Amino acid sequence: MDVFEAIKERRSIRKYKKEPISDDLVLKVIEAAIWAPSSKNRQPWEFIIIRNEDTKRKLAELAPFGWFIAEAPVVIAVVTDPRKSPAFHMVDGACAVQNLLLAAHALGLGTCWIGTMDRERAKEILGIPKDLHLLTVIPLGYPDERPKAPHRKPLESVVHYERYGQRPSKNRS
Ligand SMILES: Cc1cc2nc3c(=O)[nH]c(=O)nc-3n(C[C@H](O)[C@H](O)[C@H](O)COP(=O)(O)O)c2cc1C
Repeated sequence: MDVFEAIKERRSIRKYKKEPISDDLVLKVIEAAIWAPSSKNRQPWEFIIIRNEDTKRKLAELAPFGWFIAEAPVVIAVVTDPRKSPAFHMVDGACAVQNLLLAAHALGLGTCWIGTMDRERAKEILGIPKDLHLLTVIPLGYPDERPKAPHRKPLESVVHYERYGQRPSKNRS
């Protein structure tokens, strides 16, 4: 799949088919994540592959906008290490997650970034050491919905030229 096509057509998916996903496929998606850029190439990320129904249900209960986590055949928890990259571990992690989301889409899989959750409780459930940060949990499954693309701000409304506030001149080549 063309990279621009993957970027534009990826959607957050919140309804998944029951169809299982092989370990090979899950690892392929995570492999895309580890090729993301990171500050000083510190790669301050680790991934937990979760298939246990009880664990998924417990995580879903901790995410007010992630009730659908429990329905996904796989959930990937993304853990970052502030000690490896104090200033950038979350930025690095976000780069890795975006790679993961795009790779999943290119393989016909649906995902959704889960932002709000009781992270401390989720860390306990997943056995994540205190010093590490739980960036997000990503449900992964074959899509059972085709959401319309949500609105994006027009390009010209977010682009400035040379200095903030300078908009494109009409006769720009
Ligand atoms: C940091 C972050 C946190 C998010 N948290 C949630 C969430 O908790 N639950 C959810 O359903 N979607 C969540 N999303 C998905 C956004 O709602 C979604 O990306 C946005 O509406 C644009 O839709 P699209 O991904 O289909 O283009 C999150 C996305 C990001 C980047």
